[in-house]
Amino acid sequence: MDSNSLERLYDRISGAYPGQELVFGDGKPDAGLMLVGEAPGRDEVAQKKPFVGRAGQNLTGFLKTLGLSRTEIYVTNVCKFRPTKVSAKNTVSNRPPTREEILAAQPFLWEEIRLVAPRLLVTLGNTPLRAVRGFNAVIGDHHGKAERISLGTGEYWLFALYHPASIIYNPSLKETYSQDLSNLAVWLGKNI
Ligand code: URA
Repeated sequence: MDSNSLERLYDRISGAYPGQELVFGDGKPDAGLMLVGEAPGRDEVAQKKPFVGRAGQNLTGFLKTLGLSRTEIYVTNVCKFRPTKVSAKNTVSNRPPTREEILAAQPFLWEEIRLVAPRLLVTLGNTPLRAVRGFNAVIGDHHGKAERISLGTGEYWLFALYHPASIIYNPSLKETYSQDLSNLAVWLGKNI
C-alpha cells in the first residue's frame, strides 16, 4: 500500500478528533505483520509514535523473540488518542478506552488494516481483540493461537496476545505470555 493513502486516512481521523493530540500508526506501509495495541500513553503522545518509552521496551523484546525489526512491521493502536482520567489530587493517568470510544475508532482501524493488508494481525490485550472480534471476545479464550478472521474489508490471520502491561499487574501471566510468543514464532516460521 502506498503511504499516501494512509496519510489521507490519518487526515480523516484528525478531522474526527479536532483539537486532540493523536498518535498514528508507524512502520512499513505494506507490512506482512501488523501489531495492534490499545491506545497511546504519555510517552507516545510526546514522541507522536506508538510503542515508545516503557511500551517500546516490550516491543523490542517482542521483536527480538520473533527475529524481526521495527522497520519490517507496522505498529498501531485502536485509539489514536490517549484516554486519561484525573484523580482527586489532579494527577493525570491512563485509562482503558470505553466501549463507545472503541466503537468510534473501529471503522478507522478496519480501514487502516485494509490499506496495509497484512497477512497477520497481532493484537495486544482485550481492546484490539474486541475491535476486530466483537465485544464478547475475551483474551483468555483467544490468546496464543492463530485464527482466521473476516473483517468485511478482507480476511486475515489473527494472533491474540495478552497486553505486555498486564504481566506487570499479574505476574502469573508471564509464563503464558512467553509460551504464546514462542507459539507465534513457530507460526511465523511456518507461514510467513
Ligand atoms: N500501550 C499500547 O497499547 N499502545 C501504545 O502505543 C503504548 C502502550
